[in-house]
Amino acid sequence: MAMLRLRDLKCYYDTPRGVVQAVDGVSFDIQPNEVLGIAGESGCGKSTLLKALYDYIQPPLQIVSGTYEADFPDGKGKVKTIGPGEIRQHWWEFISYIPQGSMSVLNPVIRIESQFFDAVPRDHSLRAVGKTAIRERVAAYLKELELPVEVLKSYPHQLSGGMKQRVLVALGTFLHPQIVLADEPTTALDVVVQKGILLMLTELQQQMENTLVVVSHDMGVHYQISDRLAIMYAGKLVEYGPTDAIFNNPAHPYTQMLIGSLPRVGDRTQRVGISGRPPNLVNPPAGCRFAARCPKVMDHCAHEAPALLQIEPEHFVSCHLYGERAS
Ligand SMILES: Nc1ncnc2c1ncn2[C@@H]1O[C@H](COP(=O)(O)OP(=O)(O)OP(=O)(O)O)[C@@H](O)[C@H]1O
Ligand SMILES: [Mg+2]
Repeated sequence: MAMLRLRDLKCYYDTPRGVVQAVDGVSFDIQPNEVLGIAGESGCGKSTLLKALYDYIQPPLQIVSGTYEADFPDGKGKVKTIGPGEIRQHWWEFISYIPQGSMSVLNPVIRIESQFFDAVPRDHSLRAVGKTAIRERVAAYLKELELPVEVLKSYPHQLSGGMKQRVLVALGTFLHPQIVLADEPTTALDVVVQKGILLMLTELQQQMENTLVVVSHDMGVHYQISDRLAIMYAGKLVEYGPTDAIFNNPAHPYTQMLIGSLPRVGDRTQRVGISGRPPNLVNPPAGCRFAARCPKVMDHCAHEAPALLQIEPEHFVSCHLYGERAS
């Protein structure tokens, strides 16, 4: 049974230049104990989707329609279904969020240790054990993650980019949440540091048997760590399924292009880049949003929006090449 369910979710930014339809009718489920990847080019709505999952909706962003709900185990053997407005009451202990550009997310004037204290909710059992005990727990946790305990006394600017990101992963996993959301956790870090962060995230996911939702525009990252993959294009989910199925049998022409542009070891032929740009989300095209860039475009693609269809077990695609309009 899915632990978080999203149905036809629309999240728009109301801006002076118009309404940006950043997430426009997205439906999928998040399962317990999985690494779910979210991929797609810049501006396709990945971060907005993650903000919605974290219940971090603030103006100009608003939920226009659709639903999402999560099953929150209350610790007494019961499961409560919670939705927007309630999920935020369980930040860090049920769901945590490592935002994009997290280098600047840690409060610059607060020592790392206090940021851990602040993350423990008021009614969490750890509060009752007192500050010294929390301090010891945090220190023990950092040791377990092989991070130097001295970082606790530091201010964020005193740490390197990679160390800051590791600290954020530690912070995001300290209370063993059921869902960890990580938005571009390795972007802007050098390759060696990137590898370390990915390893840390996936090892923690395996230990805690929780769910990691990783947003990355880098398909190589998804190939390495994601169990399932959701491909977004211009605010829509265009393909969704097990990562192996998506890499072995990419169905959507957009996914085919994303995979085709990946470099391969030993292959020196020129990779095909993706030409053109995604449409403006203030006034997106009526039919398939990828039609203008699609090498397999058909007449009706520009007018009719394709539905999400299942093409093999657990593998869904939203494209007129499949289903009734296929011929
Ligand atoms: N605070 C905001 N106000 C207005 N529009 C926004 C805001 N944040 C994002 N957008 C717009 O919403 C759309 C989706 O943006 P989002 O940040 O979700 O994309 P993304 O896939 O995460 O991109 P990137 O890979 O660059 O991080 C874009 O058109 C973007 O310009
Ligand atoms: Mg983003």
